[in-house]
Amino acid sequence: MSLPLVVANWKMNTSLADASVLSTLIRNNLRNISGVQVVLCPPNIWLQEVASVLEISGETVSLGAQNCYPEASGAYTGEISVTMIKDLCRYCIVGHSERRHYFKETNEFISEKVRALLANDLIPILCVGEAHRADNSVDLVIAQLKGSLDDVEKEDYGKIIVAYEPIWAIGTADSAESDYADRVGQRIKQIMGAEATVLYGGSVTAENIEHFTGLDGIDGVLVGGASLKASEFVKICEKMVGGK
Ligand code: 13P
Repeated sequence: MSLPLVVANWKMNTSLADASVLSTLIRNNLRNISGVQVVLCPPNIWLQEVASVLEISGETVSLGAQNCYPEASGAYTGEISVTMIKDLCRYCIVGHSERRHYFKETNEFISEKVRALLANDLIPILCVGEAHRADNSVDLVIAQLKGSLDDVEKEDYGKIIVAYEPIWAIGTADSAESDYADRVGQRIKQIMGAEATVLYGGSVTAENIEHFTGLDGIDGVLVGGASLKASEFVKICEKMVGGK
């Protein structure tokens, strides 16, 4: 069984100095930890800086990007390709609800990114989640997942991490109940395979992290706001040890 996974999504936060200090504090505090895997996803422009900080650390903390463009290179002003990310990262978040909402990203486009990442041996962290609490929420999540996997080979499903992030729980301090998150995670595993890694995201803090440990359907967490405070993020990682 693989280790529980904690992924930090810094979103569009931190200055260069902040990114350097935050990653250094996290690295130093997690230097001797084992039993958990940690991925930091800073803004793309700070990837190089955080990579140079993490280089000194061991295997526990690794690097991911928050987004990518599926083409290898070309006239796509302002975009960053999968092959560029590959030089620094092992992981890349795709399909985050903020990209679906603000940048109008569709399931089709997201599935292109998933395929491009897989073709480059990067691990996609594919985000799915419903907008509102409703009776058919789980069905909506599963439909979005299937749409985001369009033309992805079934045999590759095991290489993909799925992050279940109900939109109503993101940045609201209203995290999902553990049995609900667990139920959605188990449904996701029915599609992805029993061995797949499924994360929960949405208002995860050091105080509520225990709600998301020890569940069959959930193997880790994707943390937004609480990943910007080194001490809180380190606490979350420590509480995840053995928590799968
Ligand atoms: P919060 O942890 O701030 O709710 O954000 C969750 C998220 O969107 C992580 O990708």
